[in-house]
Amino acid sequence: MSTTPTRVGLIFGGASGEHAVSIRSAATVASALAAGGNGSRYGVSCFYIDTQGRWWGPEVADAVLAQGTPAGPGQLPSSPAKPGFSGFPAGAEAIDVWLPVLHGPNGEDGTIQGLFTLMQVPFVGSGVLGSAVGMDKQAMKAAFAAAGLPQVPYICASARELRANPTDLITKLEALLGYPCFIKPANLGSSVGISKASDRQGLMAGLEAAAALDPRLVIERGVTARELECAVRGGGHQPLLASVLGEICFDADWYDYDTKYSDGKSHTVIPAVVPAEVTERARTMAIQACEAVGAMGLSRVDFFYAEASGELWLNEINTFPGFTSQSMYPMLWAATGLPLETLVHELIEGAREWHKPAEKGGPGA
Ligand SMILES: Nc1ncnc2c1ncn2[C@@H]1O[C@H](COP(=O)(O)OP(=O)(O)O)[C@@H](O)[C@H]1O
Ligand SMILES: [Mg+2]
Repeated sequence: MSTTPTRVGLIFGGASGEHAVSIRSAATVASALAAGGNGSRYGVSCFYIDTQGRWWGPEVADAVLAQGTPAGPGQLPSSPAKPGFSGFPAGAEAIDVWLPVLHGPNGEDGTIQGLFTLMQVPFVGSGVLGSAVGMDKQAMKAAFAAAGLPQVPYICASARELRANPTDLITKLEALLGYPCFIKPANLGSSVGISKASDRQGLMAGLEAAAALDPRLVIERGVTARELECAVRGGGHQPLLASVLGEICFDADWYDYDTKYSDGKSHTVIPAVVPAEVTERARTMAIQACEAVGAMGLSRVDFFYAEASGELWLNEINTFPGFTSQSMYPMLWAATGLPLETLVHELIEGAREWHKPAEKGGPGA
């Protein structure tokens, strides 16, 4: 076995509303890659994707990672001016495994996974299918429903439908879901564009706000429930493994953007204090949720738990969950007995095994 360190390409930032969180997640991953035995196993090269989707090599990326915040205007050379991916920055040809620590659109949605699949290079996380289905709440819910997994009643709608006949849509939503209900753009994350409606006026305003951000919408019956989360890893040629459960507790009506990202407005309880039977049900369901969308590598599966009735509904799957030092995903694994350093090592090992070149069985799902 060669003693040459594996060269890991750590990618962060991204043209997504979760750009800043991605930088913080990457800082946690970078420190884990330098810690203990990982320090000699891995050589890390950083790549930064700015908010316009342009890629920058280690010179810019290292500075962004060190400051922990998005690149300011003066920090990026003026060219190339064109937004989007226009080829790899220098240094990319030496990468053995890519680690796209990207949340939300343009990174957690199958796009970058498609690029690496075409290139036949290993990368950490779900492939095109799992990432794309996990990202889009309409597709995700359809996959969960097809697998017979419990979800709160919901309806998919489109911005076009809303424009063409708002009265019909509102009548249908009121009849099938009632109030309160939640209106969500299908493809954003971080609670962006989501609203809770308690009456017709709120519903109309919520639909318009969501439709301005995404042509695909999901509307759900609002439930009063605790919010539980489970971390999953593995998949591909290995079994999927579920962590202990965590609970998100917050002092707000629902877990909106401000509550999620303001210090002190929410906290996590690990392990979640729920009956053992509920924990087991959620862990089994978390694995089924990953199988339903074809997710692998790492995922966080989120639930609503109605304590009074004992009902447990799947809320969503995140195929590249938050990975900051305060994030549920690494904390759940630490509480399950897998320290951050080992977790990151296992994720990279998994990627190398699953995303094999086509002639050896094809890249992972
Ligand atoms: N059907 C629902 N009933 C009650 N609360 C909900 C419902 N849907 C969403 N919420 C609240 O909104 C938050 C964000 O919704 P979620 O679907 O998880 O979106 P995101 O992908 O942006 O995290 C949830 O964590 C929860 O607090
Ligand atoms: Mg959520």
